[in-house]
Amino acid sequence: MIQVMEYEATADLYKDAAQMVVETLAARPEAVLGLATGATQVPLYRELVELYGAGRVSFRHATCVNLDEYVGLAPSDPNSYHTYMRNHFYDHVDVDPRRCLLPEGDATDLTAAAARYQRLLERRRDIQFLGIGRNGHIGFNEPNDELILGTHVTGLNPVTVADSRQYFHGSQAVPHQAVTMGVGDIFFSERIVLLAIGEDKADAIARALSGRVSTRHPASLLQLHPQAIFLVDQEAAAKLSADRKRVPARSA
Ligand code: GLP
Repeated sequence: MIQVMEYEATADLYKDAAQMVVETLAARPEAVLGLATGATQVPLYRELVELYGAGRVSFRHATCVNLDEYVGLAPSDPNSYHTYMRNHFYDHVDVDPRRCLLPEGDATDLTAAAARYQRLLERRRDIQFLGIGRNGHIGFNEPNDELILGTHVTGLNPVTVADSRQYFHGSQAVPHQAVTMGVGDIFFSERIVLLAIGEDKADAIARALSGRVSTRHPASLLQLHPQAIFLVDQEAAAKLSADRKRVPARSA
């Protein structure tokens, strides 16, 4: 059963999330970290960069793998997830850039690129961070009749395209396709940690924890993972019953 931690202070949520990374690397410096993008993850990277600056964590031996990338965007594109990861995290810590992996959204043969990325995921991740879309997507696994287990090229849901618009600099249109880890890839992690902030995510969080699974709400599949945890703020937890969530020690 997914553990749900509800935080009064988002600063505490991010401190606890960062602490999970610190502990993972303390136990296994060569750990494989599964990382996510989106506005929700930004404060986590800020916290990790700070901890690195304070000498509390090193990423020197770690491998980082990302969930997804937009189709058509080169790594140097200001709107790519490659750029996001460099700006928020990779350029500020001691991780080896050769061990920072993201799908190639600009490959001419995207199917081959997805297959190549899939092969890079053969080492089980120690921890996988996730955000959640308002429509329940994880990575870019959008609601559908069927979900794909492996890394693949996917169309983006109109809700996702609309929600991504606010993050795009300049006049560039949001791509309608992405390369994403599949749900099987996401599950190939010892632990899964999903972060959600704000009332916009309350419905998606409630449905993900409803006790039912549906490919029409991809995050609901996480209920089948043996070690998944959701760290949410009070707004994102607003539609959960009191007995479904716990208040962590920091916020108590
Ligand atoms: C994007 C990413 C997801 C992320 C989601 C939520 O679609 N591909 O991995 O979880 O957005 O983003 P945000 O944190 O900005 O709400």
